[in-house]
Amino acid sequence: MASDNQKSELNRDKAQQELAELRQLINHHNSLYHQYDAPEIPDADYDKLFDRLLLLEEQFPELVTPDSPSQRVGDAPLDSFKQVTHDTPMMSLSKVFNDQDLADFEARILKRLDSEEVPRYSCEPKVDGVAVSLLYEHGLLVRGATRGDGVTGEDITHNVKTIRNIPLRLNDNKKHPVPDRLEVRGEIVMTRSGFAATNEKASNTEGGRTFVNPRNAAAGTLRQLDPRIAAERPLHFFCYSAHVSTSADEGVDKAADSNWPDSHSGSLELLGQWGLPLNPERDVVTGYQACLDYANELLAKRDSLDYEIDGAVIKVDNIRLQQELGSNARTPRWAMAYKFPAEEASTTVNDVEFQVGRTGTITPVARLEPVFVGGVTVSNATLHNMDEIARLGLRIGDRVILRRAGDVIPKIVKVMEMTAQADTEALPGKSDQLERREVVMPSICPACDSPVEKDGEVLYRCTGGLVCPAQRKESLRHFCSRAAMDIEGLGEKLVEQLVDANLVHTVADVFTLSKEQLLSLERMGDKSADNLLNAINKAKATTLPRLLFALGIREVGEATALALATHFGSLEKLMQASEEELVQVEDVGPIMAAHIAHFFANEENDKVIADLRERGVTWPEHESQTVSDELAGQTWVLTGTLETLTRDEAKARLQALGAKVSGSVSKKTSVVVAGPGAGSKLDKATELGVKVIDEQELLAMLGEQAG
Ligand code: IVH
Repeated sequence: MASDNQKSELNRDKAQQELAELRQLINHHNSLYHQYDAPEIPDADYDKLFDRLLLLEEQFPELVTPDSPSQRVGDAPLDSFKQVTHDTPMMSLSKVFNDQDLADFEARILKRLDSEEVPRYSCEPKVDGVAVSLLYEHGLLVRGATRGDGVTGEDITHNVKTIRNIPLRLNDNKKHPVPDRLEVRGEIVMTRSGFAATNEKASNTEGGRTFVNPRNAAAGTLRQLDPRIAAERPLHFFCYSAHVSTSADEGVDKAADSNWPDSHSGSLELLGQWGLPLNPERDVVTGYQACLDYANELLAKRDSLDYEIDGAVIKVDNIRLQQELGSNARTPRWAMAYKFPAEEASTTVNDVEFQVGRTGTITPVARLEPVFVGGVTVSNATLHNMDEIARLGLRIGDRVILRRAGDVIPKIVKVMEMTAQADTEALPGKSDQLERREVVMPSICPACDSPVEKDGEVLYRCTGGLVCPAQRKESLRHFCSRAAMDIEGLGEKLVEQLVDANLVHTVADVFTLSKEQLLSLERMGDKSADNLLNAINKAKATTLPRLLFALGIREVGEATALALATHFGSLEKLMQASEEELVQVEDVGPIMAAHIAHFFANEENDKVIADLRERGVTWPEHESQTVSDELAGQTWVLTGTLETLTRDEAKARLQALGAKVSGSVSKKTSVVVAGPGAGSKLDKATELGVKVIDEQELLAMLGEQAG
């Protein structure tokens, strides 16, 4: 048997070997990220490698080497840019991931300060961009630099000067004159909207390079030698600290400057007065619990901000206390980053399957090794169409970067390079390596074996129509849904059963179902069958807009269905309308008009409508006058999350009262309906003095109570 001593020797040898491998890997990814703006693995994977390194080094401090990545912040800058030495090193932040970690942070602070007085904290968004330092001499911007390895960065003055919210000269202030030499720090971001536009432009340009996320886009832009590129891109700066010194080599404490505010938040206000852009979401609170509340509120707002954030930064506000607490090698003891769930993660594509939609469109869907991203576990991602697969260069078995940010639909943004795919084998939760296979569009429909046809440039469609059970299921699910015929209890599971048992062929067959037929279905009891029949019966009395929406005409959503009903008044008139007449309807363009005309020209659809009537479905004529003029001439804007109504419902209801519903706030806006997470539109409304109401008030106005 090995002695304890021998065992620990063994562990130590193993650790030494793992540490060497980890350092090599981390250095590799560090340089891809910092030097080439071309990361191959998501931040979360990099963090796991780094955390493992820190853990092993903590267990075996004697194995820490001076060149370990733990001993510095980033990586050396490229040779093509001039190097810049920061007046004081740019530090990093320790991270916490949960409430307890933050409580521990405060406990450590109190212990170190030997105090019981709960500190005040400056709370700020952790802006997910590129860290930069701006040097102002006698108020004039003389240099902009990246963080680089924290001590030395790259000179990007030419690009920084193109960013419109970075002042080239600071405003002087009699009471608080701008120091002779001021180093300002902050984060440069590309806005989300600007990112989408930048990528759109790049994808339409021959050889144009698209970026994986706004941060890479900002980094890629700042690393351009030609400032004209940066000048065209929507970059934005948020300032988060400043350092004062009398000369480059002689660092002077800002607290020693009697004129300098004694708090971090006070410093920020002063920087704001000098003209530097501050983050509007910042706040000052007392105690860690209030910091948690701040972080949760910020998280709720995350998706509505036009720039990306990856957490909250919590800083002890009092500068004297900051100095008393001091710093470790890489991080200050007085600040913490409270990280939000990562919006990117890597996973494996186990398979690609083909889904058939309501109108027969065939969509490739990636079946993924389940992965936690953006706060939820994701196991599927739509790939949209074959072009998207080609653009990504995706094959089954590939390791990919999945992103779930802002919107709720997860998206594969990148196939990882082979080297990175091999690297991440060391990561936990990795699936076994699959053999890589090309993705091929099937020539026959996976649901009904009918031939698959190409439709336009990128789409493929099953030609089976009503023969195809997948199309029938999708149409039926849509037909029964709440905003359509609203048949309570007829959900996804039952739709599957009804179509598989051949009890429902067209949507009109719902109204022929008998109790015996329902009882023949698995898990259908007497009571449930009665309830369902009642719900079906109740749904027979419907309205023209609901019916039109339920029929599932391509591109016709709730708002268009209402507009069509209002314009034509009756189904007969709509069915007879020509495409020229259809485009007269508000929001109906030529493509939609063609879809509508095509739908009614199809005999099978006419038969469904005749069957619906025959089986007792009724809808009163939709008199144009039913659109009240209560809100005529008004323009409404919806922003944030609505909890009772869907956006489309709210829009349709407001339009029915004669209002226009617009996407942006201006002086002409009559009312803004703001739900949780409302952001810039709400700010603008407040700024312009536009009336703002919440969903409860909207419901009350519409004559409804929230459920
Ligand atoms: S303070 C000593 N405040 O987060 C404190 N950093 O690891 C140093 N960051 O890349 C930073 N938003 O650029 C601070 N409000 C904020 C921040 C922030 C983003 C970045 C910083 C650095 C990383 C810290």
